[in-house]
Amino acid sequence: MKKKILVTGGAGFIGSHVIRLFVNKYEDYEIVNLDKLTYAGNLENLTDVENKANYRFVKGCITDKDFISELFEKEQFDAVIHLAAESHVDRSITNPLEFVETNVMGTVNLLLAAKATWKDKTDKLFYHISTDEVYGTLGDTGLFTETTPYDPRSPYSAAKASSDHFVRAWAHTYDMPVVISNCSNNYGANQFPEKLLPLFINNIRNNKSLPVYGDGKYTRDWLWVEDHAAAIDVIFHKGKNLETYNIGGFNEWTNIDLIKLLCEQMDLKLGREKGSSEKLITYVKDRPGHDKRYAIDATKLERELGWRPSVTFEQGLAKTIDWYLANEEWMNNITSGDYEKYYEKQYAQ
Ligand code: NAD
Ligand code: TYD
Repeated sequence: MKKKILVTGGAGFIGSHVIRLFVNKYEDYEIVNLDKLTYAGNLENLTDVENKANYRFVKGCITDKDFISELFEKEQFDAVIHLAAESHVDRSITNPLEFVETNVMGTVNLLLAAKATWKDKTDKLFYHISTDEVYGTLGDTGLFTETTPYDPRSPYSAAKASSDHFVRAWAHTYDMPVVISNCSNNYGANQFPEKLLPLFINNIRNNKSLPVYGDGKYTRDWLWVEDHAAAIDVIFHKGKNLETYNIGGFNEWTNIDLIKLLCEQMDLKLGREKGSSEKLITYVKDRPGHDKRYAIDATKLERELGWRPSVTFEQGLAKTIDWYLANEEWMNNITSGDYEKYYEKQYAQ
């Protein structure tokens, strides 16, 4: 069936994998990628699909109300997969307002425009991509389930929790068909090197120190980004109206154990003496309000929609390291700002 789908934030880390999967898998769909190209958005992530007939890029900001309502009016989308957001916890601590503007106001703008064009039609879908961080933090035991009460602790997670609430409010108040998924920490190709794994891979490559926050005994549940994109595909097509699905890797690691594993693998890949990367570990001041542990119970998604991660962590991590080592130019461009020049060259003539 033909569908016109708006993907927001498609030039970012997860969005680019979602775009690639949908463009290649669903030739009948028209995929429109709306992205502001902030520091985290990079069209170099999509060079392999940029000339496909079923793909289009539109540069724009989700907080621009007039632009968004005109876009929806003109394009008459059948569905929205909403990923555009400010996504880094550390930045949210220093600049919370930007997170409220993009993640909350931007989401409400999209909901308003979708409601205005869809009216009461029930064959539409607003799919919000969210995070497990809305649930707050766990102690040593237990897992986040879909019924865990929201308890966000950082400005990032508070803004994402707020946007989740607005999405559900639109479903209850205006009968808009919606679905939400809350995913754990992603890793893989094309992630901006401010997040733990790409930052540390790049620092090890350049013999720079590895800043471990606090005692390093914080736990995250890691999922390979292509498995997240596959889960989004399944939920988009088979998820039930107004349901929430938790997505996770069944894969908990303390930061320090993960970093030590990464150091070991990097030594091997770079042909360096065993133990040399570990010497770069430097314990630094902790992140304020640092959530102790995230761990997802993703059994609902497995039981109801049949999704499971396709790779083990060892396989995913090896693929990830290989990708960053093979794509030095991508890393250099993104850290030097040259991706803006790429946009000018490709799209702004
Ligand atoms: P990212 O920071 O890599 O990408 C975000 C994208 O949104 C960028 O391309 C950016 O240019 C775009 N964007 C930002 N503000 C915009 C605006 N005002 N208008 C239009 N576009 C804008 O983020 P990511 O890691 O790919 O995360 C994508 C989504 O998934 C986010 O909603 C995030 O909360 C969620 N999520 C991320 C993770 C993770 O581990 N990275 C885990 C769970 C959920
Ligand atoms: P991050 O990749 O920022 O994801 P999130 O905060 O959304 O979980 O961080 C993952 C974990 O790694 C988190 O516990 C913070 C920690 N961390 C460091 O110890 N040092 C760093 O330089 C970074 C970026 C993160």
